[in-house]
Amino acid sequence: MTQQISSLSDYKDAYKRSIEDPELFWATQAETFHWHKPWDKVLTWNFETPEIKWFEGGKLNITYNCLDRHIADRGDDTAIIWEPNDPFGGVKSYTYNELLESVCKVANALKANGIKKGDRVVFYMPMVPELAIGVLACARIGAVHSVVFAGFSAQALADRINDAEAKMVICSDFNSRGSKSIPVKQVVDDALAKGCPSIEHVLMDRNTGGEVPWSESIDLHWDEQVDPQDGFCAPEIMDSEDMLFILYTSGSTGKPKGVVHTCGGYMVYTCYSFKNVFQYQPGDIYWCTADIGWITGHSYIVYGPLLAGATTVMFEGVPTYPDAGRFWQVCEKLGVNQFYTAPTAIRALMARGDEWPAKYDLSALKVIGSVGEPINEEAWHWYDKHIGKNQVPIIDTWWQTETGGIMLTPLPGITDAKPTYCSYPMPGIQPVLVNADGELIEENDAEGLLCIKFPWPAIIRTTYGDHERCRQTYFSTFKGMYFTGDGARRDSDGRIRVIGRVDDVINVSGHRMGTAEVENAIDEHPNVIESAVVGYPHDIKGQGIYAYVITDGKAGENFEKEVLAVVTKEIGPIAKPDKIQIVSGLPKTRSGKIMRRILRKVASGETENLGDISTLLNPEIVDEVMKGAK
Ligand code: WTA
Repeated sequence: MTQQISSLSDYKDAYKRSIEDPELFWATQAETFHWHKPWDKVLTWNFETPEIKWFEGGKLNITYNCLDRHIADRGDDTAIIWEPNDPFGGVKSYTYNELLESVCKVANALKANGIKKGDRVVFYMPMVPELAIGVLACARIGAVHSVVFAGFSAQALADRINDAEAKMVICSDFNSRGSKSIPVKQVVDDALAKGCPSIEHVLMDRNTGGEVPWSESIDLHWDEQVDPQDGFCAPEIMDSEDMLFILYTSGSTGKPKGVVHTCGGYMVYTCYSFKNVFQYQPGDIYWCTADIGWITGHSYIVYGPLLAGATTVMFEGVPTYPDAGRFWQVCEKLGVNQFYTAPTAIRALMARGDEWPAKYDLSALKVIGSVGEPINEEAWHWYDKHIGKNQVPIIDTWWQTETGGIMLTPLPGITDAKPTYCSYPMPGIQPVLVNADGELIEENDAEGLLCIKFPWPAIIRTTYGDHERCRQTYFSTFKGMYFTGDGARRDSDGRIRVIGRVDDVINVSGHRMGTAEVENAIDEHPNVIESAVVGYPHDIKGQGIYAYVITDGKAGENFEKEVLAVVTKEIGPIAKPDKIQIVSGLPKTRSGKIMRRILRKVASGETENLGDISTLLNPEIVDEVMKGAK
């Protein structure tokens, strides 16, 4: 079994070994999995090109390791517990035996419909068990899954389908979310209507059972395709470096890029990090509240827990439905031992009052975690006091879609936790701080740009279809290092606190949003000449979206509403600006670049200390922008 650190000296020892001989360290972890053929070489790497290979020559199937491997000694243990949106809707659960059979049936159905190793399959599905099953079914046959968060618009879905040149979309009919019913299949149809020539079929799971539009030549019913299939499907034998999945994420420029993860390294790292970060023990009930549409759901609802043979909870609903006690009611009902959520949810629930968690028995909790954005001190203390009752360690975990797994975190009960600090690196992770010139900042009690100087098994391999973009985005800013895009501070004891993005990415309720993407969407409004989008501090969301817009002067009285509608159509409701300010111009440098620094300050309510504006092409505009600030 994967090694588990259980004391501070274990951690120090594991960390030391992982730095002195990373290949030996990770090979030792990898040996605990089932390989159809062992690897020839543990690691090949070059951060210039970049080229990174872990366990080259090794042959495996990740689902064999998630499922078949556990059958002999824990086939009847619960793998997935599914908690529906409706609190009276009835929990569903799958043992490892049942999950293996369900995955195999879907895998056979995919094969029967022409899906082969290497083909891309896009998921646009709410948090139903069929999503996890479908993802694993792809991995079973070597098809590459790309899950698109089911809150994205038809346009955003079409863009991702086309970038991935996917052959199939798997969806549900509707999605029950809180008191709303969202027409998922309709969004898929709208996406296909925009032109997705690579799609051959849409496989639809009947979730709520409502009426949906149907095309006999394209659409397939899940039940009709899956039910008649055989309950076993031999795992496709994959190379360690074969693609496992693509997950689209936003960057500072252009359209979202498809982050590519491969089979072997991702498997080893997600399992190792899961077992150690959550200190999972057999029989524990583990719950991560993320959506599988994001990396947190991939690594820490599906792959990490299942690789570790854990019981993982999948939750369909939202934290405030039917009331603000829902999370805690589920914790009590299922006896949750490890709970993992996002600061934005903590802040939203904190605002509803202390009485909600007080109603429920949370005494089973052993670890409570946070992920996705910086957690502010107030939220950290509320989580500690009202959820952990000042007894349960909090783990503030920092990582990214590109890192595949958790990179910086306290280990619960093992290393200390300091509010707002992600603290220490996981074994095998070598974080460094550099200044803007790329020089290493050696001293403690300092701030800088966060880079990682050595590869770990789950590092991004490429951006789908555009390797150069991967090089430029992550490996070209500082020579020989992976650049995270985050700024960080290291305290006098070496703990790290991640402050936030230093590029044009904003983090809204834990969702990554590129400012350029939102600007492109706003610019689709016929009366918009130009726009600039920045983030500003927001009490619940962490960051809000502030849009400065230049219009042609002909905008009607519903202009703001129309802008929100355009953004919802182009990207989805999560990208809607919180504030829109109409301006006659944007502060620009002589070379025509928007001075975002000034816009960010104005959006944050700062009107003094705007810095040097003398280099602006149009310094007079600053006054207008400040006066009109919202
Ligand atoms: C931010 C989510 C501070 C950070 C797993 C990073 C955090 C981006 C933390 C990645 C944290 C994530 N403290 N900031 N604990 N966790 N971030 O790709 O800016 O959706 O670069 O991955 O979220 O977001 P992504």
